[in-house]
Amino acid sequence: MNQSNSLKVHIPQKAAYSYDLVVGNGILENADDFVKKYTNAKNFLIVTNEKVKELYGKYLKIDSAKWFVMKDGERYKNFDTLKKILDFALQQKLQRTDCIIAFGGGVAGDIAGFAASIYMRGTDFIQIPTTLLAQVDSSVGGKVAINHEKGKNLIGAFYQPKAVLADISVLKTLDLRQLKTGLAEVLKYAFIEKSCAADLNYRFYDFLNQNKEEIYNLNPEILSKTVSICCSLKAAIVNQDETEKGLRTILNLGHTFAHAIENLTNYTVYTHGEAVAAGMKMAFNLSLAKGFIDKDYYNKACKLIDDYDLIPSMQNFDKEKFYDKMFLDKKAQNGKIRFVLPSENFKAETTSDVTKEQVFEVL
Ligand code: NAD
Ligand code: GLY
Repeated sequence: MNQSNSLKVHIPQKAAYSYDLVVGNGILENADDFVKKYTNAKNFLIVTNEKVKELYGKYLKIDSAKWFVMKDGERYKNFDTLKKILDFALQQKLQRTDCIIAFGGGVAGDIAGFAASIYMRGTDFIQIPTTLLAQVDSSVGGKVAINHEKGKNLIGAFYQPKAVLADISVLKTLDLRQLKTGLAEVLKYAFIEKSCAADLNYRFYDFLNQNKEEIYNLNPEILSKTVSICCSLKAAIVNQDETEKGLRTILNLGHTFAHAIENLTNYTVYTHGEAVAAGMKMAFNLSLAKGFIDKDYYNKACKLIDDYDLIPSMQNFDKEKFYDKMFLDKKAQNGKIRFVLPSENFKAETTSDVTKEQVFEVL
């Protein structure tokens, strides 16, 4: 097997439950050995989409696997596709002791994971993420969901995979916009690092600051390290707060603003990462205005976001409409928007103590 790095997600509330998260370069071809290490399943159902199957299907050789190939796109992460996956699983006589594998970006991961969580009350589930966003975020931590016409990810569960296999070599075929969408989430980890766990000290901001060229050039060593650090920080959070009762909300830095941007533009103008990068800047502006952070840190953070060139030119939004949309955020509680804001260097906190005027100032 090519070089790889293994991390652990361990959820104390589920004493016997932890899983490995393996990051490496060129490890997809060893997937058969990998999955058999983590599940006793005899049969496998691989959920992927047309594009990923076409690009990488030939490398994922798993004995006894049946393939469900969905259409490509967020709009297919819905009840209709879910039903098709479940129908197919029944038709193939997949048993509870078998395993569903998600092979693709966050869309395949979310819908395959949700199918696994309800098929015969739960089958084994393994994530093989193929976008940067899926490798650093959606494949780790067990959030699985489909969209409802009333909103994104409204129907779902917390359902942890048995293992995650992230092969960074597949990222070479992502288009630049898709790579940047993942990078917005990568930068987010730098801004929350010190809130994740006391014993982790990657100095991730410095690492990202020094390695922009290598990351954009997909230098395998630097990219593996980047994905591993993000996964390790996310695992540290999930280990403490699997179901987002508190700490896990900090993973949403920039997202309250981002959801409003995406919703106001019908999810068609900006990618999620573009909206998150713009949202993180708004969060930094708000924190500075509230005196949570000093100007030095503010400048440093904004410079990193600018250097990575993650935000396209944004249209002017009507502030009232923008503000209204922020209440649709899943974090809103009792009629109050909850913001994740940078609180001190490389830390973030959740607060509702923000006035409408303060929000208007940063839009
Ligand atoms: P996606 O799955 O739609 O993938 C984006 C595009 O990249 C698609 O066209 C896909 O076919 C293509 N693609 C995938 N792998 C590729 C590769 N190696 N080379 C070339 N193209 C490739 O989108 P995404 O950005 O990966 O994920 C977004 C989804 O993830 C959303 O549905 C979002 O709600 C969800 N999400 C979930 C979590 C979670 O914690 N569960 C977190 C963040 C996002
Ligand atoms: N993507 C945010 C989370 O997993 O909590």
